[in-house]
Amino acid sequence: MTAIPGDEMSKPWIGTSWKMTKRLSEAVAYAEALAGLAAHFAHLTNSFVLPAFPLIESVARVLRPAGVSVGAQNVHWMPSGAFTGEVSAPMLIDVGASIVAIGHAERRAMFGETDQTVRDKVGAALASGLRTLVCVGESVKIALGGLTVTDLAGVLVAYEPVWAIGEGSTPATPAQANDMHGQIRAAIAHLFGGAGTAVPLLYGGSVTRDGAPALIAQDQIDGLFVGRAAWTVEGFAAIARTVAETGGRVS
Ligand code: 13P
Repeated sequence: MTAIPGDEMSKPWIGTSWKMTKRLSEAVAYAEALAGLAAHFAHLTNSFVLPAFPLIESVARVLRPAGVSVGAQNVHWMPSGAFTGEVSAPMLIDVGASIVAIGHAERRAMFGETDQTVRDKVGAALASGLRTLVCVGESVKIALGGLTVTDLAGVLVAYEPVWAIGEGSTPATPAQANDMHGQIRAAIAHLFGGAGTAVPLLYGGSVTRDGAPALIAQDQIDGLFVGRAAWTVEGFAAIARTVAETGGRVS
């Protein structure tokens, strides 16, 4: 497994996907500003930023030395070949990525991602040594099918209910999210035994600065995966400080 900066499973997790936002100059400015603030949270959390593919190398060059991991929002399941428009796990590693999100609800809804492609991508990412953030709605068993207990060491799960993601949606309440995380943890433990309980579970979907403290205080929530509210440096840093101070569940 590729070590990622500050990666200790007991530290709470805070990450953002920039989705398809930010041009190169904006990305570098964000990374430089966040690197300047990282001393407030980086040693107390596992933090990561997922830019669009063309930005990863530039962002990683700035953020990795500051203790913030950088990764991708998608990956192909083959290491190389005639797959026009796709990007492989070894390519991501070459440009400084150490983590990848797989199966995001937007990819399932708009880009034909299926349970099968999610499983294939998770397997390929883990085999390459990328830490793998598997995004699930209510169906974690399908997404993790076929993995071994050894594989699990590289897996994080993000619970992102489709009704909570993006503009005009409503976040899960802390109690709803905590309850669902408990169910997901039980499902993973059912599949993998005791090792399953250590898989970090991140909540995602309309997390805001105001909402973050109550979410991260829940005993089953190990981290937050944030979209819009972390697209400004100030937003990311504020939520990251909250996560650093309040902490997640210590397994
Ligand atoms: P929002 O925080 O913008 O709802 O997005 C969440 C998400 O999809 C993170 O990947």
